[in-house]
Amino acid sequence: MKFLFFLFLISFIICNKKLILVQVITRHGDRTPLKTLPNQKNEWNCDLNFYHLSNPESKTIFQKVYIPNRQQFNGNCLTGQLTSKGFQQHFLLGQKLRKKYFNELNFIPEKYDPKLIYLRTTDKQRTRNSVYGNLLGLFPIDINEEKIEVLDVNTVDLDYEYMHVNKILCPKLKRLLLDLENSSFWKERKEYKFLHEEVVKIFNDSSLLDTSLRKVRDNIYCTLSHGKPIPEGISYSLAAELVEETRWQIETLFVNKLISKLSVGLLIKDILEAMQNKIVEKIEYKYMFYSGHDTTLAPLLSNFNVFDGSKVYYSSFIIFELYSDDSNHFFVRFIYNDEVYLIPGCKSTFCEFETFIEIAKKVIPINFTEECV
Ligand SMILES: *[C@@H]1O[C@H](CO)[C@@H](O)[C@H](O)[C@H]1NC(C)=O
Ligand SMILES: *[C@@H]1O[C@H](CO)[C@@H](O)[C@H](O)[C@H]1NC(C)=O
Ligand SMILES: *[C@@H]1O[C@H](CO)[C@@H](O)[C@H](O)[C@H]1NC(C)=O
Repeated sequence: MKFLFFLFLISFIICNKKLILVQVITRHGDRTPLKTLPNQKNEWNCDLNFYHLSNPESKTIFQKVYIPNRQQFNGNCLTGQLTSKGFQQHFLLGQKLRKKYFNELNFIPEKYDPKLIYLRTTDKQRTRNSVYGNLLGLFPIDINEEKIEVLDVNTVDLDYEYMHVNKILCPKLKRLLLDLENSSFWKERKEYKFLHEEVVKIFNDSSLLDTSLRKVRDNIYCTLSHGKPIPEGISYSLAAELVEETRWQIETLFVNKLISKLSVGLLIKDILEAMQNKIVEKIEYKYMFYSGHDTTLAPLLSNFNVFDGSKVYYSSFIIFELYSDDSNHFFVRFIYNDEVYLIPGCKSTFCEFETFIEIAKKVIPINFTEECV
């Protein structure tokens, strides 16, 4: 169930509850494709992440320069790299969050404070750079500041990451996905068969099956997002069908409760533990930011039973707000892209913390290793 956000800004005041912790989980912004397609001439140019300081005191800046004609696409971008457009999307989201949590609620400090702000990301260029864009909107640069500030952005090796579907960390996920994608339910659908046949025909390449088709769909989506020409032979209606197929597949994966649980159950554990630690004043953080993927947000929504299968767009965000009242009761609010959701099982959008714990515990693996065998 959805409610308009502004209604709840009013109730924030009426209900006399005090905000004590905000946790924001986002999808990265617009990015380049993961793969180029045969005969595709599009050029992708990126002006992000090209400069590196070896350390803050250093006067030397390194610039990354791609060797021409050795990349997936023409131009100077990495595959799946956050584009300037994607950076801007996160910058705007950061500004929006600043407006709410600083200007309106005076909750976060005016300037970045490492004691109060916690940052975490998957170790991908697009999610790391989304953090940078977002933080620039959340805490605008003070041009009078002389010294360079170093902000910690926490991450782990991709093989150990549980902020999204990790088939290496959880072998069972790999099997569940294979079984689903190999099922007749998946493969015998007329849309799936039609798209395969069309794409193989258009590119005259039978290797563009299964996982490769995913990269074709991904390419088409990124290309359309930039208004660049789509490959010859692919009509706009076929392109739309390819994009819809991606949405369908993400929906179908994450309505599966076991897949959703094993994908981000441990992240939910972290989110819950942060709340519990805040309540007993074990942590000082007021604002925790997690930079992830559509495969972070979709299973999160599914685990709280509010996933309607819609596409999780670039720089979408989920917010868990933790409140306390005068009599030491605690409440959680769940927000997705500006809308407050009633989590099924909660009596109100200010979900009583005990109820929230019960709901969260159902999707937190008790023994992840064992459940992932
Ligand atoms: C896919 O399903 C077919 C038929 O049910 C089976 O023979 C094949 O081994 C399966 N492939 C994988 C990778 O599971
Ligand atoms: C399609 O590919 C096959 C095998 O690579 C090749 O023999 C054939 O000439 C190609 N057809 C067209 C229309 O390009
Ligand atoms: C989790 O399960 C594994 C495998 O069954 C076992 O070795 C391990 O001790 C269990 N861990 C806990 C904390 O129970």
